[in-house]
Amino acid sequence: MFIIRFLDLKVPATNPMTLDEIIPYLPHFQAMLNTAAALLLGAGYYFIRNKKRGQHRLCMAIALVTSTVFMVSYLTYHARVGYLPFAGQGLIRPFYFTLLASHVILAAVIVPMVFSTVYFAITGNFSKHPRLARWTLPLWIYVSVTGVLIYILGFHIYTSEI
Ligand code: HEM
Repeated sequence: MFIIRFLDLKVPATNPMTLDEIIPYLPHFQAMLNTAAALLLGAGYYFIRNKKRGQHRLCMAIALVTSTVFMVSYLTYHARVGYLPFAGQGLIRPFYFTLLASHVILAAVIVPMVFSTVYFAITGNFSKHPRLARWTLPLWIYVSVTGVLIYILGFHIYTSEI
């Protein structure tokens, strides 16, 4: 309830809310998940650099759950809403679409990388895990951070009246 007031979204809600009533909140929810994932990945890296394996494992596991929930929310949102045109005009458009394209492509690329990285970790293959993880980690952080930037540009700076 607090979050709904904080976001000042004027959507009439039934109790319990239907999926159609929840849909307008999903982009905000997704931005929070992406922010949390980026912070958890950063913390997980900090912990492993400091030889804290338990905390590293916990942060990475929560980041994985967070990004999975994000993916489910994102697919639900776009299945219902489709594509909303970007309202920005001028030079911001090539910047926005380059950012969006890199975000979407890398989001697909990292899925098998994340699963392989986790697989190597849980099977105790700690020669392969760090080697792959050094690619997975920065790409995953890039996808999370660009997700938040795309949200800020599309939903807060360049808002359409649709
Ligand atoms: C997809 C999630 C994960 C990512 C992105 C990730 C990332 C990383 C990275 C980047 C390193 C190398 C750090 C360095 O440069 O020194 C590393 C090392 C390590 N990770 Fe993960 N990690 C993940 C999940 C896990 C899990 C689930 C575990 C535990 C089961 C784990 C256990 C370890 C251990 C023990 C090392 C140190 C290996 C060594 O001795 O060199 N990681 N991880």
